[in-house]
Amino acid sequence: MSARSVAIVGGTGTGDFALGELLDEQTVDTPFGKPSAPLRQCLVGAQRVWFLPRHGDGHHIAPHLVNYAANLSALHQVGVTDVVALNAVGIIGRRVPVGGIMLPDQIIDYTWGRRHTVRDGACGSLEHIDFTEPYSRHLRQDLLAAARSVGLDAADGGVYGATQGPRLETAAEVARLGRDGVEIIGMTGMPEAAIARELGLSYACIALIVNEAAGQGEGDIHAQLRQAMTQSRERANQLLRAFFSAKE
Ligand code: HPA
Repeated sequence: MSARSVAIVGGTGTGDFALGELLDEQTVDTPFGKPSAPLRQCLVGAQRVWFLPRHGDGHHIAPHLVNYAANLSALHQVGVTDVVALNAVGIIGRRVPVGGIMLPDQIIDYTWGRRHTVRDGACGSLEHIDFTEPYSRHLRQDLLAAARSVGLDAADGGVYGATQGPRLETAAEVARLGRDGVEIIGMTGMPEAAIARELGLSYACIALIVNEAAGQGEGDIHAQLRQAMTQSRERANQLLRAFFSAKE
């Protein structure tokens, strides 16, 4: 356990995760190209934590243009073992309020045309990874325990539907996703989770619920999103602080 090295992959609205002192910054190249930004190692409490903003510094890379393979490979190259992904999502239904957070336990991938593997025999050996449980059980459990330790509500489990974006969904698409069993919708959950598994990285997602999915609520999605982001982000930060203070 002592060799565990954690990275946070930040998403929309989480790029300014309150990190401590900057310890190291590395511009890494990978067989798949460059990651979204230099990797930065910061002090969070007493822990050294890597941080990578998925959409780049200043948030300029659209979900379908993120180089997920380069991002995960770069983290792997610097010795990261565990990735905690922050993903903004819309919610279907009422189980978790907007402004809350969820740790999903399943994924359905609706994305297309993205480099979705680093184990296809062309680059890396051909492997058919077991993806029955797409998120790492022990990392999810550690995060949930950290939430409980500070009395923070973090919904345990749910199906993440990864859509292509960058547009939001139609009401009919959301209804179909709901029939599929999807509870939260985001644009960046895949292929990130699968490539992490291919590289042998533990991976879990903290989903920031920032809006009701299209057709599920009354108001303007973007207004809701702006309003809820601060609340969800504060919850995610609280969870991460608890997680890193619990980690040896
Ligand atoms: N759909 C897809 N991606 C999202 C949403 C949504 O409603 N909210 C935040 N990211």
